[in-house]
Amino acid sequence: MRVLLLGATGTIGRAVLHALIARGHEVVALARSEASAEKIARLGGAVVRGDIGAPGQWLPGLPTVDGVIQMACDFDSAMGETEQRLLDGLLPPLAASSRKARFIYTGGCWLFGSTGDNVATEDSALSPLPAFAWMVPHLQHVLESTSIDGIVIHPAMVHGGDGGVFRRFEQDIRERRSIRIIGGEAVRWPLVHCDDLAELYAIALERAPPGATYLGVAAEGVPVGDIVRAVARRLGVATPVLDIMSEDAAAQELGEWARGYACDQRLSGAKARKELGWAPMHLDPTRDVMELCA
Ligand SMILES: NC(=O)c1ccc[n+]([C@@H]2O[C@H](COP(=O)([O-])OP(=O)(O)OC[C@H]3O[C@@H](n4cnc5c(N)ncnc54)[C@H](OP(=O)(O)O)[C@@H]3O)[C@@H](O)[C@H]2O)c1
Repeated sequence: MRVLLLGATGTIGRAVLHALIARGHEVVALARSEASAEKIARLGGAVVRGDIGAPGQWLPGLPTVDGVIQMACDFDSAMGETEQRLLDGLLPPLAASSRKARFIYTGGCWLFGSTGDNVATEDSALSPLPAFAWMVPHLQHVLESTSIDGIVIHPAMVHGGDGGVFRRFEQDIRERRSIRIIGGEAVRWPLVHCDDLAELYAIALERAPPGATYLGVAAEGVPVGDIVRAVARRLGVATPVLDIMSEDAAAQELGEWARGYACDQRLSGAKARKELGWAPMHLDPTRDVMELCA
Protein backbone atom coordinates (compact mmCIF):
# COMPACT_ATOMS: atom_id res chain seq x y z
CA MET A 1 0.00 0.00 0.00
CA ARG A 2 1.04 3.61 -0.40
CA VAL A 3 0.58 5.28 2.98
CA LEU A 4 0.69 8.90 4.09
CA LEU A 5 2.31 9.00 7.54
CA LEU A 6 1.84 12.16 9.62
CA GLY A 7 4.21 12.40 12.60
CA ALA A 8 6.85 10.08 11.11
CA THR A 9 9.74 11.58 13.08
CA GLY A 10 8.13 11.15 16.50
CA THR A 11 8.54 8.49 19.19
CA ILE A 12 5.84 6.32 17.63
CA GLY A 13 6.17 7.54 14.04
CA ARG A 14 9.79 6.49 13.55
CA ALA A 15 8.97 2.93 14.58
CA VAL A 16 5.86 2.87 12.39
CA LEU A 17 7.80 4.18 9.39
CA HIS A 18 10.38 1.44 9.88
CA ALA A 19 7.74 -1.30 10.30
CA LEU A 20 5.74 -0.24 7.24
CA ILE A 21 8.80 -0.19 5.01
CA ALA A 22 9.96 -3.55 6.37
CA ARG A 23 6.56 -4.98 5.37
CA GLY A 24 6.87 -3.66 1.83
CA HIS A 25 4.63 -0.62 2.03
CA GLU A 26 5.50 2.64 0.33
CA VAL A 27 5.51 5.49 2.84
CA VAL A 28 5.03 9.15 2.01
CA ALA A 29 5.70 11.19 5.13
CA LEU A 30 5.04 14.83 5.95
CA ALA A 31 8.02 16.84 7.19
CA ARG A 32 7.74 20.39 8.42
CA SER A 33 11.50 21.02 8.55
CA GLU A 34 14.63 20.08 6.67
CA ALA A 35 15.86 18.12 9.70
CA SER A 36 12.65 16.04 9.76
CA ALA A 37 12.85 15.53 5.99
CA GLU A 38 16.38 14.15 6.34
CA LYS A 39 15.34 11.74 9.11
CA ILE A 40 12.45 10.43 7.00
CA ALA A 41 14.63 10.00 3.92
CA ARG A 42 17.25 8.14 5.98
CA LEU A 43 14.54 5.71 7.11
CA GLY A 44 13.43 5.13 3.51
CA GLY A 45 10.31 7.31 3.35
CA ALA A 46 9.42 9.70 0.53
CA VAL A 47 9.06 13.26 1.83
CA VAL A 48 6.28 15.79 1.34
CA ARG A 49 7.20 19.09 2.96
CA GLY A 50 4.48 20.82 5.03
CA ASP A 51 2.64 21.33 8.29
CA ILE A 52 -0.51 19.43 9.33
CA GLY A 53 -2.10 22.78 10.17
CA ALA A 54 -1.82 23.99 6.56
CA PRO A 55 -2.91 21.02 4.43
CA GLY A 56 -3.85 23.27 1.48
CA GLN A 57 -0.15 23.89 0.95
CA TRP A 58 0.94 20.28 0.53
CA LEU A 59 -2.16 18.36 -0.56
CA PRO A 60 -1.76 19.36 -4.23
CA GLY A 61 1.67 17.65 -4.31
CA LEU A 62 0.47 14.48 -2.59
CA PRO A 63 0.20 11.31 -4.70
CA THR A 64 -2.94 9.16 -4.39
CA VAL A 65 -2.66 7.08 -1.23
CA ASP A 66 -4.31 3.86 -0.04
CA GLY A 67 -4.00 4.77 3.60
CA VAL A 68 -3.29 7.59 6.06
CA ILE A 69 -1.88 7.27 9.57
CA GLN A 70 -2.26 10.38 11.72
CA MET A 71 0.04 10.69 14.73
CA ALA A 72 1.38 14.23 14.34
CA CYS A 73 0.89 16.37 17.42
CA ASP A 74 2.67 19.35 18.95
CA PHE A 75 1.31 19.12 22.51
CA ASP A 76 0.72 22.88 22.51
CA SER A 77 -2.47 24.69 23.48
CA ALA A 78 -3.56 24.88 19.80
CA MET A 79 -3.10 21.17 19.00
CA GLY A 80 -6.85 20.53 18.67
CA GLU A 81 -7.39 23.41 16.21
CA THR A 82 -4.33 22.37 14.23
CA GLU A 83 -5.66 18.85 13.82
CA GLN A 84 -9.11 20.18 12.94
CA ARG A 85 -7.52 22.06 10.01
CA LEU A 86 -5.83 18.84 8.96
CA LEU A 87 -9.07 16.85 8.98
CA ASP A 88 -11.02 19.63 7.24
CA GLY A 89 -8.40 19.79 4.49
CA LEU A 90 -7.55 16.11 4.11
CA LEU A 91 -10.83 14.21 4.44
CA PRO A 92 -12.70 15.78 1.47
CA PRO A 93 -10.02 14.90 -1.13
CA LEU A 94 -9.70 11.41 0.36
CA ALA A 95 -13.48 11.02 0.05
CA ALA A 96 -13.32 12.12 -3.59
CA SER A 97 -10.50 9.72 -4.43
CA SER A 98 -11.24 6.72 -6.64
CA ARG A 99 -9.65 4.43 -4.01
CA LYS A 100 -11.33 4.28 -0.59
CA ALA A 101 -8.53 5.09 1.82
CA ARG A 102 -7.91 3.43 5.16
CA PHE A 103 -7.37 6.03 7.89
CA ILE A 104 -5.78 5.21 11.23
CA TYR A 105 -6.33 7.88 13.85
CA THR A 106 -4.12 7.95 16.94
CA GLY A 107 -5.89 8.63 20.22
CA GLY A 108 -4.22 7.66 23.47
CA CYS A 109 -4.59 6.00 26.85
CA TRP A 110 -5.22 9.38 28.50
CA LEU A 111 -8.63 9.51 26.78
CA PHE A 112 -9.76 6.90 29.33
CA GLY A 113 -8.88 9.00 32.38
CA SER A 114 -7.90 7.37 35.66
CA THR A 115 -9.38 3.87 35.81
CA GLY A 116 -8.19 2.89 39.27
CA ASP A 117 -8.41 -0.89 39.66
CA ASN A 118 -10.87 -1.33 36.80
CA VAL A 119 -9.34 -2.52 33.54
CA ALA A 120 -10.53 -0.36 30.64
CA THR A 121 -11.19 -1.90 27.24
CA GLU A 122 -12.29 -0.55 23.86
CA ASP A 123 -15.88 -0.73 25.15
CA SER A 124 -15.23 1.50 28.16
CA ALA A 125 -16.67 5.00 28.11
CA LEU A 126 -14.11 7.68 27.31
CA SER A 127 -13.27 10.12 30.07
CA PRO A 128 -10.62 12.25 28.41
CA LEU A 129 -8.01 14.34 30.07
CA PRO A 130 -9.35 17.88 29.34
CA ALA A 131 -6.23 18.82 27.35
CA PHE A 132 -6.99 16.00 24.89
CA ALA A 133 -10.81 16.16 24.88
CA TRP A 134 -10.71 17.55 21.31
CA MET A 135 -9.55 14.11 20.15
CA VAL A 136 -12.95 12.57 20.93
CA PRO A 137 -14.98 14.35 18.20
CA HIS A 138 -12.07 13.90 15.81
CA LEU A 139 -11.86 10.14 16.31
CA GLN A 140 -15.66 9.85 16.14
CA HIS A 141 -15.62 11.72 12.84
CA VAL A 142 -12.99 9.33 11.45
CA LEU A 143 -14.88 6.24 12.66
CA GLU A 144 -18.25 7.41 11.41
CA SER A 145 -17.17 8.65 8.01
CA THR A 146 -18.47 6.41 5.23
CA SER A 147 -16.05 7.79 2.65
CA ILE A 148 -12.94 6.40 4.38
CA ASP A 149 -12.29 3.18 6.29
CA GLY A 150 -11.58 4.65 9.72
CA ILE A 151 -9.73 2.82 12.50
CA VAL A 152 -8.57 4.16 15.88
CA ILE A 153 -5.57 3.06 17.91
CA HIS A 154 -5.13 4.23 21.50
CA PRO A 155 -1.47 3.68 22.43
CA ALA A 156 -0.41 3.03 26.00
CA MET A 157 2.63 4.92 27.33
CA VAL A 158 5.32 4.18 24.78
CA HIS A 159 8.83 3.09 25.75
CA GLY A 160 11.78 2.10 23.57
CA GLY A 161 13.41 4.17 20.85
CA ASP A 162 14.10 7.63 22.13
CA GLY A 163 11.68 6.84 24.88
CA GLY A 164 10.23 10.30 25.76
CA VAL A 165 9.47 10.36 29.47
CA PHE A 166 11.53 7.21 30.06
CA ARG A 167 14.62 8.97 28.75
CA ARG A 168 13.87 11.80 31.16
CA PHE A 169 13.92 9.39 34.10
CA GLU A 170 17.35 8.23 32.97
CA GLN A 171 18.57 11.80 32.60
CA ASP A 172 17.28 12.69 36.08
CA ILE A 173 19.28 9.87 37.67
CA ARG A 174 22.43 10.63 35.72
CA GLU A 175 22.28 14.34 36.50
CA ARG A 176 20.73 14.53 39.98
CA ARG A 177 20.57 10.95 41.35
CA SER A 178 16.89 11.63 42.06
CA ILE A 179 13.93 11.04 39.77
CA ARG A 180 11.03 13.40 39.37
CA ILE A 181 7.67 11.69 39.08
CA ILE A 182 4.27 13.29 38.78
CA GLY A 183 1.39 12.36 41.05
CA GLY A 184 3.11 9.62 43.06
CA GLU A 185 4.90 6.30 42.76
CA ALA A 186 1.73 4.21 43.01
CA VAL A 187 0.33 5.71 39.79
CA ARG A 188 0.08 2.89 37.23
CA TRP A 189 0.84 3.31 33.55
CA PRO A 190 -0.20 0.94 30.80
CA LEU A 191 2.88 0.36 28.64
CA VAL A 192 3.85 -0.67 25.14
CA HIS A 193 7.20 -0.85 23.36
CA CYS A 194 7.39 1.34 20.24
CA ASP A 195 8.32 -1.65 18.02
CA ASP A 196 5.33 -3.69 19.23
CA LEU A 197 3.06 -0.70 18.75
CA ALA A 198 4.42 -0.19 15.24
CA GLU A 199 3.53 -3.80 14.40
CA LEU A 200 -0.01 -3.12 15.60
CA TYR A 201 -0.30 -0.10 13.29
CA ALA A 202 0.96 -2.16 10.35
CA ILE A 203 -1.42 -5.06 11.05
CA ALA A 204 -4.34 -2.69 11.58
CA LEU A 205 -3.55 -0.93 8.31
CA GLU A 206 -3.56 -4.24 6.49
CA ARG A 207 -6.52 -6.01 8.07
CA ALA A 208 -8.48 -4.21 10.78
CA PRO A 209 -12.18 -3.96 10.00
CA PRO A 210 -13.39 -0.42 9.24
CA GLY A 211 -14.86 1.27 12.31
CA ALA A 212 -12.69 -0.73 14.74
CA THR A 213 -10.87 0.65 17.78
CA TYR A 214 -7.89 -1.00 19.47
CA LEU A 215 -5.92 -0.35 22.61
CA GLY A 216 -2.19 -0.69 21.91
CA VAL A 217 -1.32 -2.06 25.34
CA ALA A 218 1.25 -4.74 26.15
CA ALA A 219 1.40 -4.32 29.95
CA GLU A 220 -1.86 -3.49 31.71
CA GLY A 221 -0.69 -1.09 34.41
CA VAL A 222 2.80 -0.84 35.91
CA PRO A 223 3.44 1.36 38.98
CA VAL A 224 5.66 4.29 38.07
CA GLY A 225 7.68 3.59 41.23
CA ASP A 226 8.66 0.16 39.79
CA ILE A 227 9.68 1.77 36.51
CA VAL A 228 11.86 4.46 38.02
CA ARG A 229 13.51 2.04 40.47
CA ALA A 230 14.38 -0.21 37.51
CA VAL A 231 15.95 2.76 35.74
CA ALA A 232 17.90 3.70 38.88
CA ARG A 233 19.13 0.12 39.47
CA ARG A 234 20.35 -0.09 35.89
CA LEU A 235 22.37 3.04 36.48
CA GLY A 236 23.82 1.74 39.73
CA VAL A 237 21.62 3.70 42.15
CA ALA A 238 20.04 1.25 44.60
CA THR A 239 17.74 3.65 46.43
CA PRO A 240 16.89 6.64 44.26
CA VAL A 241 15.35 9.73 45.80
CA LEU A 242 11.86 10.15 44.39
CA ASP A 243 11.05 13.77 43.80
CA ILE A 244 7.23 13.79 43.71
CA MET A 245 5.72 16.67 41.78
CA SER A 246 2.03 17.49 42.07
CA GLU A 247 -0.19 17.24 39.02
CA ASP A 248 -0.92 20.99 39.23
CA ALA A 249 2.76 21.89 39.33
CA ALA A 250 3.41 19.65 36.31
CA ALA A 251 0.58 21.30 34.39
CA GLN A 252 1.99 24.70 35.26
CA GLU A 253 5.49 23.80 34.12
CA LEU A 254 4.86 21.56 31.10
CA GLY A 255 1.31 22.36 30.01
CA GLU A 256 -2.13 21.00 30.86
CA TRP A 257 -1.43 17.79 28.89
CA ALA A 258 1.16 16.78 31.52
CA ARG A 259 -1.67 15.95 33.95
CA GLY A 260 -1.80 12.68 32.02
CA TYR A 261 1.32 11.49 33.83
CA ALA A 262 -0.75 11.38 37.02
CA CYS A 263 -3.51 9.20 35.49
CA ASP A 264 -3.64 5.91 37.38
CA GLN A 265 -4.67 3.42 34.71
CA ARG A 266 -5.14 -0.21 33.87
CA LEU A 267 -5.94 -0.92 30.22
CA SER A 268 -6.28 -4.18 28.31
CA GLY A 269 -4.73 -4.91 24.91
CA ALA A 270 -6.59 -8.24 24.58
CA LYS A 271 -8.81 -7.21 21.68
CA ALA A 272 -5.92 -6.50 19.29
CA ARG A 273 -4.28 -9.79 20.27
CA LYS A 274 -7.48 -11.77 19.73
CA GLU A 275 -8.89 -10.07 16.62
CA LEU A 276 -5.73 -9.10 14.77
CA GLY A 277 -3.26 -11.69 16.07
CA TRP A 278 -1.09 -8.91 17.49
CA ALA A 279 1.72 -10.51 19.51
CA PRO A 280 3.73 -7.91 21.43
CA MET A 281 7.21 -9.19 22.30
CA HIS A 282 8.14 -6.76 25.07
CA LEU A 283 6.13 -8.04 27.99
CA ASP A 284 8.49 -7.23 30.85
CA PRO A 285 8.46 -3.45 30.72
CA THR A 286 10.74 -2.80 33.67
CA ARG A 287 13.44 -4.92 32.00
CA ASP A 288 12.91 -3.08 28.71
CA VAL A 289 13.03 0.28 30.40
CA MET A 290 16.28 -0.79 32.08
CA GLU A 291 17.68 -1.74 28.67
CA LEU A 292 16.98 1.80 27.51
CA CYS A 293 19.67 2.92 29.91
CA ALA A 294 22.36 0.51 28.63
N1 LIG B 1 4.36 8.65 23.16
C1 LIG B 1 3.38 8.14 23.91
O1 LIG B 1 3.64 7.55 24.98
C2 LIG B 1 1.94 8.26 23.46
C3 LIG B 1 0.97 7.51 24.15
C4 LIG B 1 -0.36 7.62 23.75
C5 LIG B 1 -0.72 8.44 22.70
N2 LIG B 1 0.24 9.16 22.06
C6 LIG B 1 -0.19 10.03 20.96
O2 LIG B 1 0.51 9.66 19.79
C7 LIG B 1 0.75 10.80 19.00
C8 LIG B 1 2.25 10.86 18.69
O3 LIG B 1 2.96 10.90 19.91
P1 LIG B 1 4.56 10.87 19.94
O4 LIG B 1 4.95 10.60 21.34
O5 LIG B 1 5.08 10.01 18.86
O6 LIG B 1 4.87 12.40 19.63
P2 LIG B 1 6.26 13.09 19.34
O7 LIG B 1 7.40 12.18 19.61
O8 LIG B 1 6.25 14.42 19.99
O9 LIG B 1 6.21 13.31 17.75
C9 LIG B 1 5.29 14.18 17.17
C10 LIG B 1 5.42 14.09 15.66
O10 LIG B 1 4.45 14.98 15.07
C11 LIG B 1 5.11 15.86 14.17
N3 LIG B 1 4.39 17.13 14.20
C12 LIG B 1 3.98 17.80 15.28
N4 LIG B 1 3.31 18.89 14.92
C13 LIG B 1 3.32 18.92 13.57
C14 LIG B 1 2.81 19.82 12.60
N5 LIG B 1 2.13 20.92 12.97
N6 LIG B 1 2.98 19.52 11.30
C15 LIG B 1 3.65 18.40 10.91
N7 LIG B 1 4.16 17.52 11.79
C16 LIG B 1 4.01 17.79 13.10
C17 LIG B 1 6.54 15.97 14.70
O11 LIG B 1 7.40 16.43 13.67
P3 LIG B 1 8.78 17.21 13.91
O12 LIG B 1 9.87 16.21 13.65
O13 LIG B 1 8.81 18.27 12.91
O14 LIG B 1 8.77 17.75 15.32
C18 LIG B 1 6.78 14.51 15.11
O15 LIG B 1 7.05 13.74 13.96
C19 LIG B 1 0.21 12.01 19.79
O16 LIG B 1 -1.08 12.30 19.34
C20 LIG B 1 0.16 11.48 21.20
O17 LIG B 1 -0.84 12.12 21.98
C21 LIG B 1 1.56 9.09 22.41
